[in-house]
Amino acid sequence: MRRQGQLDHSRIPVAPLLATAALGGCSGIQSVHHAAGPHAGAIGTIGLVMYAGAAIIFVLVMGLTAWALLAPPDRRGWLSRPAVVPIGGVIFPLVVLTALLTYGLAIASKLSRPAPADALQIEVVGEQFWWRVIYRDPDGGPAFETANEIHIPVGQPVSFILKSADVIHSFWVPALGGKLDMIPGRANAFVLEAAREGVYRGQCAEYCGDQHALMAFDVVADAPENFATWREGAASAAAVPDAGDIQDGKAIFLAAGCGACHAIRGTEASGTLGPDLTHVGSRRMLAAGVLPNNIASLSAWIVRAQEIKPGSRMPSFDIFSEAELDALSAYLVSLK
Ligand code: CUA
Repeated sequence: MRRQGQLDHSRIPVAPLLATAALGGCSGIQSVHHAAGPHAGAIGTIGLVMYAGAAIIFVLVMGLTAWALLAPPDRRGWLSRPAVVPIGGVIFPLVVLTALLTYGLAIASKLSRPAPADALQIEVVGEQFWWRVIYRDPDGGPAFETANEIHIPVGQPVSFILKSADVIHSFWVPALGGKLDMIPGRANAFVLEAAREGVYRGQCAEYCGDQHALMAFDVVADAPENFATWREGAASAAAVPDAGDIQDGKAIFLAAGCGACHAIRGTEASGTLGPDLTHVGSRRMLAAGVLPNNIASLSAWIVRAQEIKPGSRMPSFDIFSEAELDALSAYLVSLK
């Protein structure tokens, strides 16, 4: 007899749950099947050709197997001729694999073309468990640092330089392209391009520790004029409203020592261990794609970071009064 409260596993609809879990990765802003740029499009096409080819060959082999087992003896005799083995077992795979290899290499050579010399360069550094984002200035635009959210202009190839500060991570934005590892001591580079405006979710794709699964980010593809405006703002120092509680929050931030790890340009806070918070209020998400960005989740993150992302480098700071926490969170959210 089952104990009360015990789960009856036979009644859990395993197949639909598995299908839901498997298909959950196929929709929306983090999907290889919703390509939003030429690189992801090419990879999607290779995928479709491979799936279709594999399906045709599977049906062919199953059909021949059924024929060999079930057809009348006088009609299946040709399957036991000596020539069938070298044709089906050597020549056919050789032709198919050579064709696939040639096709795959042709597309791969298009994917690995370097960006134009004046392309926007963005350096992304994988850290346990977030993304440091550094805009360089080969195109004459301002250089600055931000975190966990990457803006790019639509319709322009962008050169990504990928590094790691600790262990191996992997940078993957399924809707924009393939994944590339971030390896300590190396700089890997590739090009991504968004063909239409939108928000595309990226995810660390190499197990890197306890919070690997909670290491996500957003790529926001803006129209070029909106991107220029965003970049201008993101490169500027923090502007703080005059409101009293927000000024209080700034004082608390500096007094509590948050600036030892975090930088807020325009203040004394210049730490480099954690994410740059100069415009943290303008980001969509907090804690590397984990929490929606608002005062409530910011407060929760400050007080309970080690419960939300155990093992991350952000300690839980349960040291503030309610009023102090409110002011601190209001200050950070005001940093647009
Ligand atoms: Cu970083 Cu997995």
